[in-house]
Amino acid sequence: MYTPVEGFSKLTKEEKIDWIAENCTENPAKTKAVLKRYWNTNSSVQKIHDEFIENTVSNYYLPFAIAPNFLINDRLYAIPMAIEESSVVAAASKAAKFWLNKGGFKTTILGTEKVGQVHFMYSGNSEKLFRFFDKVKDHFFEDTKAITASMEKRGGGITDIELRDKTHKLSNYYQLHCTFETLDAMGANFINSCLEQFSKTLQEQANLYEDFSADEKALEVVMSILSNYVPNCLVKAEVSCPISDLNESDLSGKKFAKKILQAVDIAKLEPYRAVTHNKGVMNGIDAVILATGNDFRAVEAGVHAYAAKNGSYSSLTYAEIEDGIFKFWIEIPLALGTVGGLTSLHPLVKLALEILQKPSAKELMQVVAVAGLAQNFAALRSLVTTGIQKGHMKMHLLNMLNQLGATEQEKQKLVIYFKDNIVTNSSVKEALKKMQAE
Ligand code: MEV
Repeated sequence: MYTPVEGFSKLTKEEKIDWIAENCTENPAKTKAVLKRYWNTNSSVQKIHDEFIENTVSNYYLPFAIAPNFLINDRLYAIPMAIEESSVVAAASKAAKFWLNKGGFKTTILGTEKVGQVHFMYSGNSEKLFRFFDKVKDHFFEDTKAITASMEKRGGGITDIELRDKTHKLSNYYQLHCTFETLDAMGANFINSCLEQFSKTLQEQANLYEDFSADEKALEVVMSILSNYVPNCLVKAEVSCPISDLNESDLSGKKFAKKILQAVDIAKLEPYRAVTHNKGVMNGIDAVILATGNDFRAVEAGVHAYAAKNGSYSSLTYAEIEDGIFKFWIEIPLALGTVGGLTSLHPLVKLALEILQKPSAKELMQVVAVAGLAQNFAALRSLVTTGIQKGHMKMHLLNMLNQLGATEQEKQKLVIYFKDNIVTNSSVKEALKKMQAE
C-alpha cells in the first residue's frame, strides 16, 4: 500500500517512471527497463506518442497486420488491422479470398448524419417554449458562424436544430436535437463547440424573450454533448452468389447457405448469441478503426445501441436465399474520420490510410463495414462447419509455444507437426517436451 501522490502530472516522465516503479511494482529496475524498452528509438516519434495523452510513461504495442484481397465495389483493397487476437486477420483474409472471385463486396452509404444535443430543464408552458424556439431558431445558426464557416465552405455544417419535448420521460426535460454534416472529419470537436454555443444562445435568448416569466427565462441547461448514437450515419455492405458457388468440402452449397441462415436467425432472436455474433463483427470493425486512428469506443457504443434499436439486442448481419441466390449483408452506423484527430499525427495511422488509398470518410465507412461483414462470414462459416476451435487453436499455437519458451527451430517443427494433430494446451506441452528430450 502506497501513499497518494501529489502533483503526479507535473513530474517529468523519468520521475513518473521512478514513482510507479518504486511504489507499485516488485522489481523497480525491471519495471523501468520494460517501460523504456517500448519507447520509440526516434525521439521525435516518441514525443508525438507522449503527447497524445496525459502521464505517458511508455507505448502499448498492438500487432499491425494486413488482410489483403478485399474487392470492394470493384476496387481492390489491402486492409490494415490492429488487433491482439489471433485468427481474426486470418479469418478476414480467408473471407476476402472467398468472395474475390464471386463479385466481391458491394457497399452503399445510407446516410452521414451526426448528432448532438443540448439537454435542458424548463418548467413553464410547453407551447410557449415551442413559439420561442421558432422565433429565435436563426440565432443558433448566426451565433455559430465563426465555428461553422470553414466546414460550410467545404459543404458541411449544421443541418438542423429541433426542439424536442421529453417531459413524458422526465419532468421538465427538453432538448435541442441537432444534426450535422462533418464530411471527412469525425467532427467531435466541431459538434461540441457548436453545441456549447447553442447552449449559450438558448440561455441568452430565453433571458431576452418578453413572453417568458422570470422562471421560464431561467431555463436550465444540464449539458451539451454529441451523441455517439448515429443511426443515420449508416453504411450497408453485402455479398451475394448462387448457392451452388457455396459448396464446401463435405457440405452442399444449399445446406451451407441454410445453416448460415439458421445461425443468423438465432442471432436475430437470442441476445446471448447475438452479443457473440456481433462481437465477431466488431473483431473486424475495431481492428480497422484502431489501425486508422478512429475512436473504437464511440463506434462500439453506437453500434450496440443500434443492434438493440427494436427493443431487443439483435444481429447486425442478415442473410437470405432468393431464387437460388445467397445474400449476406450488414447495416451498421459508423461515424468515422479520415482527417483531424490522430490521422495526420500517428505515423502508422497515416500509413494505414495510405494503404487504403487515402479514403474519404465515406470510403472508410465502406471498408470498415466490409471488414465486419467478412469477419462475421468467416466466423459463421467455421461455426456451422468445423467449429472454430480447429482453426483458432492452430493460430494460437505460436502464442502457446512462445509462452512455453520454445526456440525458433522447435516452433517451426511443431507448426508442421500440428498441421495434422489436434492443438490443445496439453498436446502442445507434451509435443514440445518430447522434442526437447530427443
Ligand atoms: C471470437 O473472437 C468471435 C466469435 O466467437 C464470433 C462468433 O461466435 O460469431 C468466433
